[in-house]
Amino acid sequence: MLRVITNSEDETIKLAKKIAKQINENTIIILIGELGSGKTKFTEGILTYYGLEEEISSPTFTLVNEYNTSNFNIFHFDLYRLADIDEFYSIGGEEYFEKGACIIEWGEMIESALPKDYIKIVFSKDNQDENKRIIEIEFFGKSEIKL
Ligand SMILES: Nc1ncnc2c1ncn2[C@@H]1O[C@H](COP(=O)(O)OP(=O)(O)OP(=O)(O)O)[C@@H](O)[C@H]1O
Ligand SMILES: [Mg+2]
Repeated sequence: MLRVITNSEDETIKLAKKIAKQINENTIIILIGELGSGKTKFTEGILTYYGLEEEISSPTFTLVNEYNTSNFNIFHFDLYRLADIDEFYSIGGEEYFEKGACIIEWGEMIESALPKDYIKIVFSKDNQDENKRIIEIEFFGKSEIKL
């Protein structure tokens, strides 16, 4: 497990760019943490690395948005409004795992549907400092990232 502290939105974006460089079409990252903890900012960092930042829109009402890098697709999920894991199966959620990299906000809801290789990133806010986030990165299966 890796633990990183960021002291600004920009530092979280910088961390995401470092990770973006190391992802591929098989990467699955679930992002966990309360409202406003930085999950979308982190996703923005990933997309910015691939020159896709202009296109980011919250997938809140569609559950998933698709982006295309020159080499692979990136699917950005926001599962805040997902009722339960059955709804994920019924939208064909698992099929995306085969189609490209998946970045999944509120991904704890579908953790049991994931293939064995994935990365779990947990964002925590700090009571004292509104710009501080504690970011814990956990690796499952053969997933790996170097910071
Ligand atoms: N260190 C930090 N890292 C990331 N965001 C930060 C940090 N400090 C302050 N912020 C602010 O916190 C907010 C994070 O919002 P963001 O939309 O990324 O959260 P979220 O986890 O996606 O929330 P939601 O669950 O509503 O989708 C932004 O307004 C951002 O400017
Ligand atoms: Mg969000």
